Amino acid sequence: MIPVHVTAAKNTKSVVVLMTKIKSANDLNAIKEAARIITEGGLVAFPTETVYGLGADALNSEACKGIFEAKGRPRDNPLIIHIADMESLLNIVEVPGHKANKLMEKFWPGPLTLIFTKKTTVSDVISGGLSTVAVRMPDNEAALSLIKEAKTPIAAPSANISGRPSPTTAGHVKSDLDGKIDMILDGGNAVVGLESTIVDLSGTVPMLLRPGAITLEMLEDILGTVEIYPEIIFEDDKAPKAPGMKYRHYAPKAELTVVISKRKARISKYIRQKIGEIGGTCAILASQEDLEKYKNLKTYSLEPETLFAALRQIDKDGIKRVFVHGLDDTGINRAMMNRLRKASSGDIVDLDTVLFVCTGNTCRSPMAEAIWDSFKTGCLAKSCGIAVAPGSTLNENARKTLEIKGLSLQGFTSRQLTKNDVEEASVIFCMTKVHAEYVKQMTNDMWKVYTLSEYAGESETDISDPFGSELDIYEVCAKELETLISKIIENRNKKSL
Ligand code: TXA
Ligand code: MG
Repeated sequence: MIPVHVTAAKNTKSVVVLMTKIKSANDLNAIKEAARIITEGGLVAFPTETVYGLGADALNSEACKGIFEAKGRPRDNPLIIHIADMESLLNIVEVPGHKANKLMEKFWPGPLTLIFTKKTTVSDVISGGLSTVAVRMPDNEAALSLIKEAKTPIAAPSANISGRPSPTTAGHVKSDLDGKIDMILDGGNAVVGLESTIVDLSGTVPMLLRPGAITLEMLEDILGTVEIYPEIIFEDDKAPKAPGMKYRHYAPKAELTVVISKRKARISKYIRQKIGEIGGTCAILASQEDLEKYKNLKTYSLEPETLFAALRQIDKDGIKRVFVHGLDDTGINRAMMNRLRKASSGDIVDLDTVLFVCTGNTCRSPMAEAIWDSFKTGCLAKSCGIAVAPGSTLNENARKTLEIKGLSLQGFTSRQLTKNDVEEASVIFCMTKVHAEYVKQMTNDMWKVYTLSEYAGESETDISDPFGSELDIYEVCAKELETLISKIIENRNKKSL
């Protein structure tokens, strides 16, 4: 920030003004003043179509350092450079490839950031020491005029204190950065409301680093296959491709739990029940369509344009616990769920667990659990027994059989089936008819209890107990389990587990 000194009347001492001025982004004079601040090395928050950015002259590394200071941003989290024309691009990056050209033609100006090999004009302050730099052309008149007027590319992260939800109004910027930056250009509500999509084209397959309003489906239409970079939800010391991904983000002060299931009714039942238990200061964040399931409870609408505003409001309202009624990962929902999973710091309840049941929970059902999880369906398996001997654990031959398949069940101990296990499972696979009859007596939801062979659409046969047998009998048992499980997974979408 450029310190502003005002000489008070009859007082020679100057005082530093701690209020940041806010001016209308529709006022050309304000844009000119903002551009002057940028060229003088100051910091200006400005509207873009995604979220507000905190801008500094991208060619002035001292000014860019100020961004990190004002936001409290870790130095290894690089900035995005904003440009207003294609000539500026070639001053800062090496010649873009064919795929990048196609994307820029289609989506610029717009909410898409591309990772390029940087030229030496871009300092390490911006790139966080990487050899690449992120660039985008925003689709917002005020942002484009500011960049043109300043005659320099503008480096800008989102204009929030690090870790807070990104700002979608000038008021959000003010509440985070007042007194720390020189000026805020007020351009009203950001129309998109979520930060830009980030795509890295440096590998053989394009990689989606951060989902946004340019959706995976839109990218696939142009690029064919696009890989999705694994989401990093927990803070850790790994070095992800987009360094910013490793930091806690978007987090409201309230504890936030994301609840997901393929069946919406399960989600609302779970959330209503939890709120019933916790009482008071809880709220639900759900799409307009899902909100009607929560009449008489405190709710916030889950829409891309207002997601960040809602997270801020939740804190203002003193909410202590928020449940997110999870959406599927299609279109723009993927971007919303990405931000919310990060805001949850990993507190994600996936209600789509399948439960395998046998007698002692030492052989058949644990092997089934490990085999199911090896298919990585996103729907996790659990296993229990109906008559578990205290202190039981995985049978040695079952362990060896799994090991031969490259599978393991680390830290496994056998568990006696409880009413709660039955309640929480979305479907229960029993090894024999006797087990199924037993489990059905524990629940009113008898429809969700099957023998494994029955659910796989085979003639109903029991999986016999290998307990006490040689290893080869265990292997036969595992093979039988694997055949049935792979059939079930093939049919999975039809039966919408
Ligand atoms: O929509 C947006 O992108 C907004 C507006 C202001 O343009 N900006 C924004 O910036 O969201 P920021 O700093 O909050 O997020 C930038 C992300 C970070 O996760 C950062 O790690 C990643 O971009 N990034 C920057 N340079 C990168 C690079 N060279 N390679 C990979 N990721 C990079
Ligand atoms: Mg940010």
